[in-house]
Amino acid sequence: MSGLKKINSTTKLMNFELSEEQKAVRDAAREFANNVCKPGVIERDTHQQFPEEQIKQLGELGFMGMMVSPEYGGGGMDTVSYVLAMEEISKIDASVSVCMSVNNSLVCWGLEAFGSEEQKQKYLVPLAKGEKIGAFCLSEPEAGSDATSQRTTAEDKGDYYLLNGTKNWITSGSSASIYLVIAQTDREKGHRGINVFIVERGMDGFVVGAKEDKLGIRGSDTHTLMFNDVKVPKENRIGEDGFGFKFAMKTLSGGRIGIASQALGIASGAYELAKAYSKERKAFGKPICEHQAIQFKIADMATSIDAARLLVLRAAWIKDQGQNYDEAGAMAKLYASQVAMDTTVEAVQVHGGYGYVKEYHVERLMRDAKITQIYEGTSEIQKIVIGRSVLKD
Ligand code: CAA
Repeated sequence: MSGLKKINSTTKLMNFELSEEQKAVRDAAREFANNVCKPGVIERDTHQQFPEEQIKQLGELGFMGMMVSPEYGGGGMDTVSYVLAMEEISKIDASVSVCMSVNNSLVCWGLEAFGSEEQKQKYLVPLAKGEKIGAFCLSEPEAGSDATSQRTTAEDKGDYYLLNGTKNWITSGSSASIYLVIAQTDREKGHRGINVFIVERGMDGFVVGAKEDKLGIRGSDTHTLMFNDVKVPKENRIGEDGFGFKFAMKTLSGGRIGIASQALGIASGAYELAKAYSKERKAFGKPICEHQAIQFKIADMATSIDAARLLVLRAAWIKDQGQNYDEAGAMAKLYASQVAMDTTVEAVQVHGGYGYVKEYHVERLMRDAKITQIYEGTSEIQKIVIGRSVLKD
């Protein structure tokens, strides 16, 4: 009998069927991506134009604060729905999905999990409703992977903190109006002397610097930010004194699931294009998909994308169960980003000369794929997280 019980519970865990609600979210995101994101995607990439209208409409549809509880203006959806939506939008425009991911996973999630009631009312509500865009400011010229080496300082002045420093490669740097900024308040204390502050656009001394001219996700606006004697009210610190590093680590753990789903979307977008093209294009008297050289490529893409999707959904599901998702999220990001890179390179190859020109989309997807192995922790950082976790046992 106990054996039977075990089989039943395993069977329940192995149910891969999506709920009707999850399917509806995925379909709505797919429709949005095709109808709203696809037009102009090549031009936005060429001219590094921020997808302002697309983000506005995403917000109106509730995608910018999908997982935030309705009490704070969000969609109250689960992480599985979120990754399904992220995959669909990333198939078409990863510049839109990175803004969506940072807003949902890093900014909204961090504020809802650790913000005070006042902070939630003032900042989370407009972010969750898509009325404002949020940015997450951790990386510095000399603190990317080594996140404890923060040079930005926040000096306690009684009623306020005096913020000074520079942040680099900040997603939505010029379109955001609410920024979560990580800074050192007490160097002696190491990572326990780091805090996170809510900084508003327009505060004196806050300067949005140069925009990066990037290889991929060129529609997203990535900037350097400068903080010169910015007075940040004390009530804008999130959590207890010294909580900033753990805040960053916890939010990034969830963020990695979002980026994993972005990588998955880039891969599946390229795969779908390559598959369709291989059926149309003829060479040596038959469609190229009938040549084994191409079939093997399509088979490898399909298999690795399926494996990545399972890892992404598993990480999202673990998060929804309230279990620790650090390891699962890092595995999903590590694997899905490699799949994104491999698949997009092969998709260009399947397209031959056409793959090398903008009109066919796959060269853009190939350029977009690379960042998924870099931001929210490089692949090497994911291996550190996974290695430490599995070696604990
Ligand atoms: N949850 C909670 N706490 C955590 C944690 C987690 N996931 N990971 C670490 N911590 C805690 C540890 O328990 C430890 O606390 P105690 O000392 O109290 O026990 C503390 O944090 C320090 O941990 P470590 O000693 O493990 O720290 P480390 O210096 O060795 O670094 C690291 C660990 C995994 C390498 C980390 O530095 C890291 O993740 N680096 C990458 C940072 C990153 O992802 N940057 C991306 C920039 S953001 C971005 O890209 C956004 C965007 O715009 C798209």
